[in-house]
This record gives sequence, structure tokens and C-alpha cells, in this order.
Amino acid sequence: MSAEEPPVLQAKNLCAGYRRVPCVRDVDLDVRPGEIVVVLGPNGAGKTTTLLTLSGALPALGGEIRWRGEPTTAALHHRVRGGLGVVPEERSVISRLSVRDNLRIGPGPVERALELFPELERLLGRRAGLLSGGEQQMLSTARALAAEPAVLLADELSLGLAPKIVARLMRALREAADRGAGVLLVEQHARQALAVADRACVLRRGRVVWSGPAEEATRDIRRIEGAYLGGAAAA
Ligand SMILES: Nc1ncnc2c1ncn2[C@@H]1O[C@H](COP(=O)(O)OP(=O)(O)OP(=O)(O)O)[C@@H](O)[C@H]1O
Ligand SMILES: [Mg+2]
Repeated sequence: MSAEEPPVLQAKNLCAGYRRVPCVRDVDLDVRPGEIVVVLGPNGAGKTTTLLTLSGALPALGGEIRWRGEPTTAALHHRVRGGLGVVPEERSVISRLSVRDNLRIGPGPVERALELFPELERLLGRRAGLLSGGEQQMLSTARALAAEPAVLLADELSLGLAPKIVARLMRALREAADRGAGVLLVEQHARQALAVADRACVLRRGRVVWSGPAEEATRDIRRIEGAYLGGAAAA
């Protein structure tokens, strides 16, 4: 289905960075309804910078971002209202609030968040700061997905989590994509993300150095890891 649909979010020759100094250059990326695109790359490659710029939290330094085909420079809150969901790199739960209140201040209904992650039901009264890392990440993801965003941007969902909980989060993203969302997922841990993704691209030193079907990336994973994902030194 996704191959025929036009992209809902698109970057064309995107340059991005901080204080007008680009660290991401000439990135072309697109996300269609119903597909998961995973962005891989070593530390410092520019993954988070790309995501923040696509979300409107950082201004683009060059190139263009298109939302449903139209060029946009909208700020994050406008994009969120227009159907963008974001799970940022730092877990975004508010520690002093309960799980229930964290869900209440989210963009979608609490009941929907609980349908997506029934595991959160028994934790509703607990302060979010007391949750485990995996529970916090489920909360962030449930909150973003409850609004049924047209596009979800997620940064390092799996950071520091056990494979079982990573698989649970990946399954939730796959289900959201199967309901029609476009998902752009930044990950350092390539294999579990590739298992649910449709397409992949690899960023290195701020440029796209590989892109193709997720199946191909999985088949070629040793070479891709060896060539591009070697850790900070290779960034
Ligand atoms: N707030 C900032 N101000 C200035 N430079 C920054 C800032 N945040 C990141 N950078 C720099 O931008 C470059 C890209 O960083 P970015 O965080 O996008 O990488 P990343 O691929 O997400 O890495 P990681 O896997 O470690 O999260 C790096 O050289 C980094 O040092
Ligand atoms: Mg990052």
C-alpha cells in the first residue's frame, strides 16, 4: 500500500545543525503512510539533529521539509496539531506526575493509550519517576500513539532496554504503521528495528551513505555494521 501513496513527510536536500553550523547535509528522506523507515548511524552521525529538524524543534539551515506535499517551516506544536507525534531521545515523562496525569496531558485519549499498552493500567496511580526505564518508554510511546498521529518520529526508543521490551515497543510501532501511520525511527541497535521496518537509511557524518529496503539491510547487516556503524570513532 505504501509504495503508491505520496510521502506524508519529506526532507529534500535538508541541511541542519546548531547556531547556523550544519552537521547534517543534503539529506533526502521520505516517509509514506503505512511504512516504518529506520535511520541508523553511529554516535554523532546527525540522527537526532535530523529528527529534531523534521519535527520543527530546530530550524532547517537549508533544503526543504514538506508535510503532505507542502513546504513547511511550522514550529513543533503546529506540526503536532497537524498530526505529528514525537517520542524524543530523552524520555519525556514528567517524573512528579502520575502515569494517569502523564497520559492526560498527552495529545490523545487516555483510554486509547491503555488499549495500546494495557501494561500501563496497573501503573496508572504511580509517579512516572518511579517507573522502570522500559515502563517509562512504554508511557512515552503510548502517549504519542494515542493521538493516532499521521507520522510518528521516535528517537532511540530502545536505548538501555532489554530485548523483550524493545520487541514490545517495535510491535506497537508496526501496528501503528499497519493502521496507516508513517513511522520514522532512529536507532543504534539496528537488528530489532530492521525486523519491523520497511526501509532503512544510514547516516554517517551528517550524510546519507546507504539507503534501501529493510530486508536488504538485514541481509547485508554485517557489512553495513562494519562499514558504517562502528561506534563513535567511525562517526
Ligand atoms: N545542542 C547542540 N549544540 C551544538 N552541537 C550539537 C548539539 N547537539 C548535537 N550537536 C552535534 O551535532 C552532531 C550530530 O549530533 P546528533 O545528536 O544529531 O547525533 P546522533 O546521530 O543523534 O548521535 P547519538 O547516536 O549519540 O544520539 C554531533 O557532532 C554533536 O556533537
Ligand atoms: Mg541521537
